[in-house]
Amino acid sequence: MSRILITSAIPYINGIKHLGNLVGSQLPADLFARYMRARGNEVMFICATDEHGTPAELAAAKAGKPVDEFCAEMHKVQADIAQGFRLSFDHFGRSSSPQNQKLTQYFAGKLAENGFIKEVVEEQVYSPTDGRFLPDRYIEGTCPNCGYDSARGDQCDNCTKQLNPTDLINPYSTESGATDLEVRETKHLHLRQSALKDELDAWINSKTDWPVLTTSIAKKWLHDGDGLQDRGITRDLKWGVPVKKGTEDWPGMEGKVFYVWFDAPIEYIAATKELTDARGEDDTAWQSWWREDKGAKDVTYYQFMGKDNVPFHTLSFPATIKGANQNSDEKWKLVDYIKSFNYLNYDGGQFSTSRGRGVFMDQALEILPSDYWRWWLLSHAPESSDSEFTWENFQADVNKDLADVLGNFVSRITKFCRSKFGEEVPAGGIYGEAEQSLIAELTKRIRAYETHMQAMEVRKSASELRAIWVAGNEYLQSAAPWSTFKTDPEAAAAQVRIALNLIRLYAVLSAPFIPDASSSLMEAMKTGDTSWPDDVEAALNALPAGHAFSVPEVLFAKISDENREEWQERFAGVRD
Ligand code: 2FM
Ligand code: ZN
Repeated sequence: MSRILITSAIPYINGIKHLGNLVGSQLPADLFARYMRARGNEVMFICATDEHGTPAELAAAKAGKPVDEFCAEMHKVQADIAQGFRLSFDHFGRSSSPQNQKLTQYFAGKLAENGFIKEVVEEQVYSPTDGRFLPDRYIEGTCPNCGYDSARGDQCDNCTKQLNPTDLINPYSTESGATDLEVRETKHLHLRQSALKDELDAWINSKTDWPVLTTSIAKKWLHDGDGLQDRGITRDLKWGVPVKKGTEDWPGMEGKVFYVWFDAPIEYIAATKELTDARGEDDTAWQSWWREDKGAKDVTYYQFMGKDNVPFHTLSFPATIKGANQNSDEKWKLVDYIKSFNYLNYDGGQFSTSRGRGVFMDQALEILPSDYWRWWLLSHAPESSDSEFTWENFQADVNKDLADVLGNFVSRITKFCRSKFGEEVPAGGIYGEAEQSLIAELTKRIRAYETHMQAMEVRKSASELRAIWVAGNEYLQSAAPWSTFKTDPEAAAAQVRIALNLIRLYAVLSAPFIPDASSSLMEAMKTGDTSWPDDVEAALNALPAGHAFSVPEVLFAKISDENREEWQERFAGVRD
């Protein structure tokens, strides 16, 4: 048994994520968490809402609510949707928690103590028209790196370069469109990432098993242009973690807060503390996951995220951790593996939160149960390149894989057994040559499935699982117990017995992908035996002769052409 720590990028509080976001972080993280638990590991799976920053302030103002109230409400909305998708977080925290405030201030203090914080008098963009210093995201302009004309003040969406607003060419306020922006002086804190550049470089270079998507983005920002730059970590906002040096005030930083990207990843740690605090456990509980000097040496830590989040997780957050660890007995846990994803496109274009284009998580659950989405999204995860959602493809794949292959297998064999042998696993006959060859094929495929799941190869895992379902169907088709029964009822009984046992096996193997269907199958087979099929032959004897079962309801209804057309039309435009 291993101790596995898993975090998914934490979604912004303002607004609900679309399916492209879901498949790029939370969903594959959940797949992995469920698999790791099923294999008997001790798992800590953490997510949260990312609640600070101007977008939250502005969304609250738009909703006419105080920002803390708005965040509390939206957290509940997001938590319910996560539950709807069966995301099995051990805790879904909030970056505005007191725990995160304290930890963020603590890390800032440590970094200052270790010489990784620089106080700088900075020139900041002030908009006389808007009457305020403009937050990074509300300044757009041309990217100095790639020339993209709608680069934001914090990052260019086109080339992913992290930017400072004053880097932009021809900047304007997205609030008012004002171009009469002025640069005024104000004091800010910078994280001296450049001082950690060599260490970060060596660390990234040592990660030879990481996805190329992850390391290539990290290397780009380490080496391109002037290399890794220091980063401002404070902002002139009211909503956020007040700037403090540990528990002490920070002279000159009154009224400022930490930058949302500084406190967001620290929330991974704080959320774990939120959980253990709620359980009434002491600090050793969360520290045993996050502090190598306090028991986390045996923890393996995996992060899941979309490619736009990679620079912050490969460079900025590790700089925070490495900087805090230096010359210190404290050894905070660094990530061991970063699984990143490309983008999922929507019907010939991009999913877009700001433009409301595509299907959003709440809408998806309004039209179909979560397993349909989970299966399709995971089996089309944008791993090696961007992938695309189309309604035609969604309909075709869901109908084929879930209804025709898995659903049909279950319905056929349970109904046949009920009609000829009654609702219990039939006795008689033995597993012969055909059954042994099925066992051999399944053993090979299940071992491959385990390898892919362990390696977080999401698409390959889905293909292998599909092949495992297909193998059962093919067996049933060729064994044809309905024919065998006419001449040799004993042999037919053995065929039915192995097929009924396959249903339990499928439930166990498929649970990480389609947890609800898997529970229905377990219920129909009247078993709570979720043991992993280390020995496939034994697993196919788990339900003995005489074990009662029931014929389940239709597992997956097919998506009709009318459904598809209706949804296609409903989701063709943009969301208001
Ligand atoms: O891209 C996003 O939705 C960010 N809120 C992700 C933050 S991940 C982390 F740093 F916690
Ligand atoms: Zn750019």
